[in-house]
Amino acid sequence: MTATQTTDPIADPTTTPTFDPTSESQLADPYPGYAQMRAKCPVLHDQDLDLWVVTRHEDVVRVVHDARTFSSENAVRVATGPESDDVKQVMAEGWSLTPNLTESDGEEHTRLRVAVNKVFTPRRVAELEPFIRSTAEELIARFAAAGSTDVIEGYAWPLPLMVMAQILGIPAEDVPRLRQWSSNWLKLSVGTGPQDERVEWARDVVTMQHYVMAMLTNTKRADEGSLVASLGRYGEEHRLDTVELMRIVMNLIIAGHVTVTRAIGNGLVSLLEHPDQLAALRSGEASVEAMVEEILRFESPVQGLFRTVTEETELGGRQLVPGDRVMVHWGSANRDGCVIEDPDVFALRSRPGRQQMAFGRGIHACLGASLARLQLRVAIPMLFDRLPGLRLGPADSRTRERLVIARGFEELRLLWDTP
Ligand code: HEM
Repeated sequence: MTATQTTDPIADPTTTPTFDPTSESQLADPYPGYAQMRAKCPVLHDQDLDLWVVTRHEDVVRVVHDARTFSSENAVRVATGPESDDVKQVMAEGWSLTPNLTESDGEEHTRLRVAVNKVFTPRRVAELEPFIRSTAEELIARFAAAGSTDVIEGYAWPLPLMVMAQILGIPAEDVPRLRQWSSNWLKLSVGTGPQDERVEWARDVVTMQHYVMAMLTNTKRADEGSLVASLGRYGEEHRLDTVELMRIVMNLIIAGHVTVTRAIGNGLVSLLEHPDQLAALRSGEASVEAMVEEILRFESPVQGLFRTVTEETELGGRQLVPGDRVMVHWGSANRDGCVIEDPDVFALRSRPGRQQMAFGRGIHACLGASLARLQLRVAIPMLFDRLPGLRLGPADSRTRERLVIARGFEELRLLWDTP
C-alpha cells in the first residue's frame, strides 16, 4: 500500500516544487528545484511516479544506512508495474534479472558482495592503469586530426566499456554488442518505455544472459586471468551457481560503464564552463583527485535510486508505510548547503571526502569507485593534453539524456585547434 496524503500540511500544491527531472527546464538545470524541495518539502511525494523523493543529505544518509527499513528490492526500477505477457514470454527464454547485487538485501546481498570483493581487488584495479592509458590514447588518435568530435560517442562510451571488457576477459570485437545489450538491459530494468520496445529490449537482455552464461561455462572463452575466470573458480568453491555469477557479471558490466561515461561528459562540461577552475587544474594548483571528487559531486552521474519501505517509519516529517517507494537523491544531497559549503559553486578545492556521496553509502556503496576514479583521473586530463584549445561546440550539439535516475549527455560536441 502506498500513502498518498491529500491533506498534506507540508506539500501545499501552490508552493511545493515539482519533481520532473526529464522536463526541459529541469534537464537544463535541476538544482534550483532540488534546493526548493530541500527547503520546503524534503521528502516529497511524486504522484506520477508514486514515490517519495528524499533530497536532504541527512535523510539520504539515514535511508542508505538503514537497509532493514529501506530494502533494495527494485532499487533500479522507476516503474514497478507488471510486465506484459509478451515481455514475460521472451524473458522465459532466459533467467530472472534478480536477485542481483544492487537489488538484494541481507545475507543474499552479502554472499554476492563478498564474492565480488574477493576477486575484484585493488591490485586488479591498479594493474589496469596502463590499459586505460593506452586505450584512451588510441581513441583520441582516431579523432585528433578532425578538430571536432562527439566526445560521448568517440570516447566517453567506448573507453569504460573497453575497460570492463578487458577486466572481465571479453573479446574486444564484442564491445559494440555489449553496448547495445547493456543499454537495453538498463532500459528494461528501469521498467518504463513502450511495450513493443520493451519486448525488443527483453530479447537483447536474454541474448546477453546467454552470452555471459556461455563465458562462465566455457573456460575456453574466459581467459584464465580474467575476472570471469576468477569468479567461476570462487563460485565453485563457495557454491554460487552459474546463474548467480551471470547476474554479478551483468551487474558489473552495466554499473561499470554508463556511470563513467556520464562522469566524463559532465566533467568536461563543468571544466569548460569554469575556465578559472580548468586553469587551476592545468597549472597544478588544483589536484586531479580534487577534480574527480568535484565533478562527481557537482553533477552526480547516478542522481538517485530507489528503496522500498519494509516497516512503518518517519522520515523528514512524513509517515511512510510498508510498500512505499523512496528515491534516495544523491544528486540533491551533493548540493545540500547544510553539509557542503557553497554547494552550487564548482570549485576544485579539497572538500572533506565524506561529504561527497556520488558513490552512495552503506552496504550498497559503489564497489567500482576506485576503478571509476582511476579512469576519470586518466581520461579527462588526457583530452586537454592531447587536444589544444579544447572547447565546447555549439549549444545545440549538446543533448542531455532524458532519465529520472541519471544525469549525463547523449551527445556532446567538442572542438579544438588543429595544425
Ligand atoms: C563515476 C562512476 C560511478 C558512479 C557515479 C557510481 C555510482 C554508484 C552508486 C550511487 C551506487 C549505489 C547504489 C545503491 O545504493 O543502490 C553504486 C553501486 C554499484 N556500483 Fe557504481 N558507480 C560508478 C562506477 C562503477 C564502476 C566502474 C563499477 C564496476 C566496476 C561499478 C559497480 C557497481 C556495483 C556492482 C554496485 C552495486 C553494489 C552493491 O549493491 O553492493 N560502479 N554505484
